[in-house]
Amino acid sequence: MKKLIIYTSQTGFTKQYATWIAERTGADLLDLKEAKKKNEAFFASYEAIVYGGWAMAGNLVKVKWFLEKAVSWKNKRLAIFCVGGSPNDNPDVARWLHQVLTDEQRTYIKAFYCQGGFAYEKMSAASRLAMKMFVGALKKKKDATDDEKEMVNRISASYDISDIKYIEPIVAYLQSEK
Ligand SMILES: Cc1cc2nc3c(=O)[nH]c(=O)nc-3n(C[C@H](O)[C@H](O)[C@H](O)COP(=O)(O)O)c2cc1C
Repeated sequence: MKKLIIYTSQTGFTKQYATWIAERTGADLLDLKEAKKKNEAFFASYEAIVYGGWAMAGNLVKVKWFLEKAVSWKNKRLAIFCVGGSPNDNPDVARWLHQVLTDEQRTYIKAFYCQGGFAYEKMSAASRLAMKMFVGALKKKKDATDDEKEMVNRISASYDISDIKYIEPIVAYLQSEK
């Protein structure tokens, strides 16, 4: 089965996961910017297409392009994966991931999450500012829950909790019979 992994990444975590998946499954790898330049004939040769992006304030960055394309790719094996700073076992992750797709989209697209991290030194100025405001607001919050306090501690500085093991469910999905 010919496979394609399309990704967008600001600080490298999503690119690392996309590369791991491509290396493991023999898939081709394409930055979203390059994918946008391709015509339908290019995508027609693939039987499986995966989109990977990062989490930004509860959204999967630039997923719209893929979701629009996916409407005409229903005969292919389709998946999205999201890379975020939250750990995989954070209960919010499953709830949040669920709302990225509609019920209808879920019938032909499978969604996965891979924990990444924060790399402040590689972020755009806008992203750094957004995070500074978010962390600042949480620090000031008087009735912050234990989860919120833990999150503030976690995201106040750069960290890397990515691990190749989180690609396993995606690899299994790509290698199973349709
Ligand atoms: C402005 C901003 C908002 C973010 N919001 C979330 C979020 O809602 N949930 C989450 O898990 N991670 C969030 N993150 C963390 C990124 O998703 C995380 O750093 C990810 O690994 C970045 O992937 P990349 O290295 O491919 O750019 C946010 C990061 C930034 C800069």
